[in-house]
Amino acid sequence: MSRFVRFEQFGGPEVLSVVNVEPPRPGPGQVRVQVRVAGLNPVDHKIFAGGPTAEKHGARLPSGVGNDFSGIVDQVGEGVTSLRPGDAVFGGARHRAQADFVVVDADRVLRKPERLTIEQAGALDISGRAAWATVQAVRVAADDTVLVSAAAGGVGLLACQLALATGATVIGTASLRNHDFLRSIGVVPVEYGEGLAERVRDASRGRVTAVLDYNGAETIDAGLALGVHGSRINTIVARGHASEHGIGGVGGQAASLDNLLELAELIAGGSIVLPIDSVFPIQRVAEAYTRLSLGHTRGKSILVTE
Ligand SMILES: NC(=O)c1ccc[n+]([C@@H]2O[C@H](COP(=O)([O-])OP(=O)(O)OC[C@H]3O[C@@H](n4cnc5c(N)ncnc54)[C@H](OP(=O)(O)O)[C@@H]3O)[C@@H](O)[C@H]2O)c1
Repeated sequence: MSRFVRFEQFGGPEVLSVVNVEPPRPGPGQVRVQVRVAGLNPVDHKIFAGGPTAEKHGARLPSGVGNDFSGIVDQVGEGVTSLRPGDAVFGGARHRAQADFVVVDADRVLRKPERLTIEQAGALDISGRAAWATVQAVRVAADDTVLVSAAAGGVGLLACQLALATGATVIGTASLRNHDFLRSIGVVPVEYGEGLAERVRDASRGRVTAVLDYNGAETIDAGLALGVHGSRINTIVARGHASEHGIGGVGGQAASLDNLLELAELIAGGSIVLPIDSVFPIQRVAEAYTRLSLGHTRGKSILVTE
């Protein structure tokens, strides 16, 4: 049997349960992966909460949970030559990744770079794509000073480091407890909240040229107040607010599997760090989402199946 995280009604983390189901079997062109790690993302709890995000992502009751996973291929379907049982892979499988086994199209999973940990690999799909796509969207370059919100979170942390890799200066918003950590990777930290624009003005000596928003309107307003042009601002959170100002709303869908692999290799090589904030056994999935929903994760939170 396969443990499978499921909800039968929309609501908070308390609606999640772990049930035993028949393990899925791969069809032609598919592989079955024995999941080792399943990452958590805020979008998962927006989906199981119901409402517009659930609708947008086609959630139907009863539903499985999650997207990000890593693990070991244990069965291959007819016609699959690119992967074999025993290969370590990672990727995304919306509404079904949080399980002992997941079936995915063979051409939609990536081989795990050897030095990428299985924990990092299982937490990368959504955050990695979003970070990559958004840094590209505002065309960050060496002469930029970029304001990044939620800089220590799953997406922000990766985006900060991709921006730094271009040679740009990066100012990141975070609570005080994350400031030393952000400094250690080369980000200039500022506290979010009232007075943000003034603090960013001081930290940047008045010159901010781009904004990557992963938290909401406050950062966009600060960017606009500091004279950043709408075309150099992207948000993945406050899309309604964005359209009022002609600001970009590019999200993770704009990044390809090749982009994700390139990012995975940067992490494997040590030039980008991706800390794992918390690790929960799959049985404690509700607790894991309760923690994630507090909104103060540094890096990523994951479920493990062993
Ligand atoms: N459209 C897409 O493609 C896409 C893809 C991925 C994510 N998203 C969305 O993007 C958002 C961020 O995702 P994520 O995975 O990075 O989330 P996350 O990891 O849960 O973000 C946690 C971070 O948010 C920071 N934070 C909390 N309150 C804040 C505030 N008021 N201002 C600034 N930062 C604050 C925290 O910093 P402190 O601990 O220092 O307080 C923490 O480091 C979510 O809404 C998610 O749904 C969209």
